[in-house]
Amino acid sequence: MAAFTELVFSGVQPTGNLHLGNYLGAVKRFVEMQERDAQCLYCVVDMHAITVWQDPEALRGQIREVTAAFLAAGIDPKRSIVFNQSQVPQHAELAWVFNCVARLGWLNRMTQFKEKAGKDRENASIGLYDYPVLMAADILAYRATHVPVGEDQKQHLELTRDIAQKFNTDFGSSIAAHGHCDAFFPITEPLIGGPAARVMSLRDGTKKMSKSDPSDNARINLTDEADTIAQKIRRAKTDSDPLPSEVDGLKERPEADNLVGIYAALAGITREDVLRDFGGAQFSTFKPALADLAVTSLAPIAGEMRRLTADPGHIDAVLADGSNRAETIAAQTLDAVKDIVGFVRRGPSLQAVR
Ligand code: TYM
Repeated sequence: MAAFTELVFSGVQPTGNLHLGNYLGAVKRFVEMQERDAQCLYCVVDMHAITVWQDPEALRGQIREVTAAFLAAGIDPKRSIVFNQSQVPQHAELAWVFNCVARLGWLNRMTQFKEKAGKDRENASIGLYDYPVLMAADILAYRATHVPVGEDQKQHLELTRDIAQKFNTDFGSSIAAHGHCDAFFPITEPLIGGPAARVMSLRDGTKKMSKSDPSDNARINLTDEADTIAQKIRRAKTDSDPLPSEVDGLKERPEADNLVGIYAALAGITREDVLRDFGGAQFSTFKPALADLAVTSLAPIAGEMRRLTADPGHIDAVLADGSNRAETIAAQTLDAVKDIVGFVRRGPSLQAVR
């Protein structure tokens, strides 16, 4: 039987405009996992970022900015492993093996590719199509058991589970012959949940808050100043009814539901708790309370991000240290994978050569 200890992995793309959805759906929960004393790896997925064109100089800045956001939000680079994907070559190596395990039909079903490629699919990069396979490699290079993400990543994590399962089955006898437990790769648990698994646009409660929304007013960026945050919340679209007293009353009211969810996630409480305090209140009362809470929670993070990004040398040192520690784990997985698949490898001396 497989006996996996709890290992958490997650990633964020350095594609600019880190926003409240990224924070509440992912980064804030990364910190919570760290506080639960799980071994955590948090990765700036720069190889995923280049699946669509990135200006090289801007990309370097964005990698450092996401790293700064991790640290500013409370990820401790001594307890957790913080690194960027391109410094650990095993991600790309394992992705190739998984390219030969995953089926074309599986990737053809990925809705995020369809959304991102749009109508001009012929012109999308092959990397964008293959994106979920690299994601499976990110996770399984560490044989991670838990992955905290927002709801939009659910389908990608299902694919990761399918790849793990197929690898374990296809190579079952080789896995056993090399003395590994029968489930070499764990069937990773997605951790999707809480009141902010899907934070919606402030301008349209039916659309996800996203980095690429042309309207900056649709999202709260992690780097926004206090005044901007308050103004965006004041201007957020709502209906004209007071807040309901029960969560059921938020059905069919996407904008109200979104703002209540944001409040709950920022305060670390449930929607029910929020409505206990604000049921019956008008938005003219609720919005200022939400703005205050958002500013008190986010302004210190923005300040700390500014302080950290002013010292790129420090950020680069954090990434280098994290990458070394990540590579130590990923290299063991890749050695085992190469044996299982039937490759002839150089053996343990590889580490010494490097
Ligand atoms: P990315 O960079 O698009 O988003 C980073 C994290 O933020 C979450 N998120 C949201 N959560 C709630 N509401 C929203 N509006 C919202 N928008 C984004 C995302 O779900 C994600 O958790 N494919 C991943 C990066 C990745 C990864 C991995 C994640 C690459 N390899 C391995 C986990 C494990 C992505 O594009 O995230």
